[in-house]
Amino acid sequence: MQDVAIIGGGPGGYAAALYAHNFGLSVTLIEKDKVGGTCLHRGCIPAKSLLQTAEVFTQVAGSAQFGVKTSDPVLDWVTALDRKNGVVGQLHKGLSGLMKQRKVDVVHGEGRLAAPGIVDVSVPDGSTRRVEATSVIVASGSVPRSIPGYDVDGVRIVTSDHALDWIELPRRVAVIGAGAIGAEFASLLIDLGAEVHLFEVLDQVVPGAEPRAARLLERALAGRGVQVHTGTAVGTPRVDPDGVAVPFADEAVEVDAVLVAVGRAPVTEGIGLESTAAQLDRGYLVVDPETMQTAEPGLYAVGDVVAGTPQLAHAGFAEGIAATTHIATGVAAPVDYRAIPLVVYTHPELASVGMTEQQAKEQGYEVETHDHGFGGVGRAIIKGETLGTVKIVAQKEGPILGATVVGPAAGELIHELMYAVGWEALPAEAAAFVHAHPTLAEAVGEALLTASGKSLH
Ligand code: NAI
Repeated sequence: MQDVAIIGGGPGGYAAALYAHNFGLSVTLIEKDKVGGTCLHRGCIPAKSLLQTAEVFTQVAGSAQFGVKTSDPVLDWVTALDRKNGVVGQLHKGLSGLMKQRKVDVVHGEGRLAAPGIVDVSVPDGSTRRVEATSVIVASGSVPRSIPGYDVDGVRIVTSDHALDWIELPRRVAVIGAGAIGAEFASLLIDLGAEVHLFEVLDQVVPGAEPRAARLLERALAGRGVQVHTGTAVGTPRVDPDGVAVPFADEAVEVDAVLVAVGRAPVTEGIGLESTAAQLDRGYLVVDPETMQTAEPGLYAVGDVVAGTPQLAHAGFAEGIAATTHIATGVAAPVDYRAIPLVVYTHPELASVGMTEQQAKEQGYEVETHDHGFGGVGRAIIKGETLGTVKIVAQKEGPILGATVVGPAAGELIHELMYAVGWEALPAEAAAFVHAHPTLAEAVGEALLTASGKSLH
């Protein structure tokens, strides 16, 4: 009898497993593929590795302005893929080693709840292994969705799962959906020389982001050649041997591949949830946000499979920690969802934390907003990366409620604003500390000074 059995070894599941050593809990982790899940094998890590190739390519192409002359860069996609696979492999090896070190019993196979506290695992040799545990955590994750008419075949109509392993880069690509996945791929593909058409049914790229930040990103993508079509629904595609025609409005584009990036669906079928009292909401598992426990006592859920929480690897980590803590101590240690950063790794990056201006207003706050662009920031000028801005949303005469950074290193810079939002800092409290000069972080410092009512530059 184990203390905990976990179904799914992605960020939610493996964080729950790794964290258990803090309490001396015995853990079995059941994973049908490889520990690391979507994030490590088909998401965050491989995507960012390929985006790194795009960044290096762009830097080499623009190196002459820094006084470094080179010939025009040539993309060696095979090496880029090899490097990406190497990065994934290194992290997978590290994670597997850590599992051993922490004495997590990793079972390779497909887990299914037979009854509360009992998981039957179909292992690759065809046999079944039964795991019994006091608590079970479901961390079965999510898979890409598609839209009617776009039947994913892995060649002409693909999802990010396939695009991360494209043997050859398609010359012309239509990306459907300009959320995090669609925007990142559009940025990557245009930088590597593809023709890119980006379709988004809502009225801006990265819907939900601060509109001005989204517009800046859209302008940057369009400026590099992405054909951005917001507020545009696509029609049924025509797939033929030479490519795909994607109709929209009264036009159509001919492409070599369509990348569907319209969101991800939870994996809750086939894992035996019907043998428990757990409740589903549109396929997602409903949990008590204080404890991550479902309606079945002792059955928890974390990560992308959970209803109503962000589908982000780091949200999964935090939920795994919260579930394990509750299992071990019986005391709720809820995730603080107010200050979870979101980073879109486009060029330029777009990152946010807390509420946007609109969300704050919808929640009834009277707000003040303050912006500071990167245009006059020394380090940004040195780097040749001045496009972007920091926006701070604060309650009138109150704390910082949210922030958005679009621009160089936005994904790193957002973290100081994470503390500000998390600690409900007043602008003047956050502005009291001195930023090093010259740094990109000075853009944040200047925005905080402005928000405190006393701007400098
Ligand atoms: P998403 O939900 O973020 O974006 C999907 C987009 O597709 C939306 O903007 C939606 O309006 C649009 N859309 C839906 N149907 C459409 C249609 N018929 N035509 C045109 N547009 C349509 O989902 P995405 O980008 O697939 O990502 C899945 C999940 O993974 C998200 O929760 C995302 O936050 C997460 N993720 C996070 C990343 C990051 O943090 N950097 C990177 C990749 C994914």
